[in-house]
Amino acid sequence: MSRTTISDLAAMKKRGEKWAMLTCYEQMTASVFEDAQIPALLVGDSAGNNFLGEENTIPVTVDELIPLARAVVRGNSTALVIADFPFGSYETSPAQAVETGVRFFKEAKVQAVKLEGGKRIVPQIQALVAAGIPVMGHLGLTPQSVHALGGFKVQGRGDDAERIKEDARAIAEAGVFAIVLELVPAQLASEISAELSIPIIGIGAGNGTDAQVLVWTDLMGLTKGAPRFARAYADIRATMKDAAIAWKKDVATSAFPSEEETFH
Ligand code: KIV
Repeated sequence: MSRTTISDLAAMKKRGEKWAMLTCYEQMTASVFEDAQIPALLVGDSAGNNFLGEENTIPVTVDELIPLARAVVRGNSTALVIADFPFGSYETSPAQAVETGVRFFKEAKVQAVKLEGGKRIVPQIQALVAAGIPVMGHLGLTPQSVHALGGFKVQGRGDDAERIKEDARAIAEAGVFAIVLELVPAQLASEISAELSIPIIGIGAGNGTDAQVLVWTDLMGLTKGAPRFARAYADIRATMKDAAIAWKKDVATSAFPSEEETFH
């Protein structure tokens, strides 16, 4: 099976077929998601909190994300792999954004990139698209701006809805192939999904978007204190803990290794 393309995702929207995207930070999980045929994987800067042990996404660097993105591309041959631009890797200028995009394309071999922001990053989006680098947008709660937004709060309530709509129109016009809408009222997300022809991917944005994205550790029940909008479909944390305790006990009692696990 060949890799999903941005045209495949656009065609799914046209057909009214909802699709799923997961974050992914390394090769083994990427290969599980190939078995599950998840069409798009995001090497999110959420690797900061979910993989690198940071408090939030702000300290994450391009040098940290590139090896993770490369591992995901190596581990999965069927999903479109999108790399997040970390804070500080695109804001300065369109040239800085293109440099970052070129690094992710050459060093990690991802097929698209994601940037947080609306009108203010239109020049960056245009420069990337002109360089042949497909761009996914990200609006609503944009975690890199958590301090400017005053915390992890729902965005786009009341009059603020129009600001997010205008940002969505501006970045769609600039050439993004899809937009992540994070933590916004369901009604607003549905209206943007209905208005724009590109796929809108919701996270904490209700059921009316064209696609959904979740952080994989939230989906699998590995994250401690996952957000309310994330449903855990497994309890991997308990499974891993139980296995570690059982093995530790078998080591202590010499029940591991067994005769079959021993070479003579
Ligand atoms: O970094 C990330 O994982 C994200 C998703 C939550 C959309 O931006």
